[in-house]
Amino acid sequence: MAHYDAIVIGSGPGGYVCAIRLAQLGLKTACVEGRDTLGGTCLNVGCIPSKALLHSSHMLHEAEHNFTKMGLMGKSPSVDWPKMKAYKEDVVSQNTKGIEFLFKKNKIDWIKGWGSIPAAGQVKVGDEVHTATSIVIATGSEASSLRGVEVDEKRIVTSTGALDLAKIPRSMVVIGAGVIGLELGSVYARLGTEVTVIEFLDEITPGMDKDVQKTLKRILSKQGLNFIMGAAVQNVEATKTKAKVTYKLRKDDSEVSLDADVVLVATGRRPYVDNLGFEALGGKMTERGQIATGAHWDTNIEGIYAIGDVIEGPMLAHKAEDEGMAVAEQIAGKSGHVNYNVIPGVIYTSPEVASVGATEQVLKEKGVDYKVGKFSFMGNARAKAVFQGEGFVKILADKDTDRVLGAHIIGPAAGDMIHEICIAMEFGASAQDIALTCHAHPTYSEAVREAALACGDGPIHA
Ligand code: NAI
Repeated sequence: MAHYDAIVIGSGPGGYVCAIRLAQLGLKTACVEGRDTLGGTCLNVGCIPSKALLHSSHMLHEAEHNFTKMGLMGKSPSVDWPKMKAYKEDVVSQNTKGIEFLFKKNKIDWIKGWGSIPAAGQVKVGDEVHTATSIVIATGSEASSLRGVEVDEKRIVTSTGALDLAKIPRSMVVIGAGVIGLELGSVYARLGTEVTVIEFLDEITPGMDKDVQKTLKRILSKQGLNFIMGAAVQNVEATKTKAKVTYKLRKDDSEVSLDADVVLVATGRRPYVDNLGFEALGGKMTERGQIATGAHWDTNIEGIYAIGDVIEGPMLAHKAEDEGMAVAEQIAGKSGHVNYNVIPGVIYTSPEVASVGATEQVLKEKGVDYKVGKFSFMGNARAKAVFQGEGFVKILADKDTDRVLGAHIIGPAAGDMIHEICIAMEFGASAQDIALTCHAHPTYSEAVREAALACGDGPIHA
């Protein structure tokens, strides 16, 4: 077998980006992938297919609720579910083929099959053992199971099954009001499903800004999602036609049951290291089952690195990509770096939610003196023109230095607008720097400038 400078195990956003950067830096590189297509969870059964369904269901929502307001008359479109799924599959296929093209262009060998590490410097795929100077583990994560719940991906599903249901269910229970539950729950609510979200905690999207949590819950409730808060799911039983969810209310320990056509389990994900052989080699893991890494994504075994969902940190495709590029630079003898303080998070609901940096909660805990600049999209002409006046931009800045410490946006195109704040934070900018930057009119981004103005002398349109 050929010897490689580097073999990457896993072709998700962490793995494929790492492989491309390694090849660009002149290293002979291979990437091991057992799926039929490249791109991992994100491209095949995660971010990309869910964004296709978010888009199509959002278009339906616009047709049903806003077309006539704009003088676009006529019957609302009906949903052809197989066709909508075919569109989604086409989007996936364009993206996965795109990675295959990039591998060919960069002369990266795709070793097809599931890889394991029998010894340092070796990667076994099927009966073949390949050797490599450096090995990067980028095997990602899988949906974590819940005690008392057996997933069949038909009636009781994870996000994977939820993206490929045989028909649009009349009712759906979503367990967990996190990112997956809310994104997919709102897709099905827009397609006409009665969606009930059961959440253990008293608020949705744990860890996010409190104002955002409240506003998002209010908006999603208005869109038809029902929320049962403070409830721990005990078990889910599948019958022939339904699934029965039993949960316990935390406030009084009372037990309640609920029937639904489909139950989506969205209670988190865990690192995927099955059959990898890393632990058997003496590889060090964290208490939470992640591969333990040092400052340069190195593990305790020389020549083995790990990145993405399989190590600690937020389970986000773009965090994995950044680590993929940085570890490639390390392996090539350069100095790769990831700024973990500036990793944006986006929830692709409608409106979108985006945040970066510290929340008020975190700043209070750290005893940092901060000020808040907040601006509502009701004061933004562009947002109002497209019925998106709900939501706000909130910038948190240091009280003394005015340095931007974080931002939280709920509103149209929030996931794109957040990057203005990311750049500002990377450059150590103050809120005034943003406020003094000319923003084109009329754009949603003007709301960011207004929030920055609100950190100083005040916004104009409020
Ligand atoms: P999550 O960690 O975001 O949310 C899980 C929720 O389930 C929590 O609110 C938790 O309190 C609740 N929960 C746990 N056990 C429960 C029980 N027995 N009964 C009721 N509620 C319970 O996990 P999620 O949504 O599954 O996402 C997994 C990972 O994938 C996350 O790290 C997320 O960031 C990532 N992801 C990111 C996306 C994005 O960036 N747009 C999209 C999809 C996933």
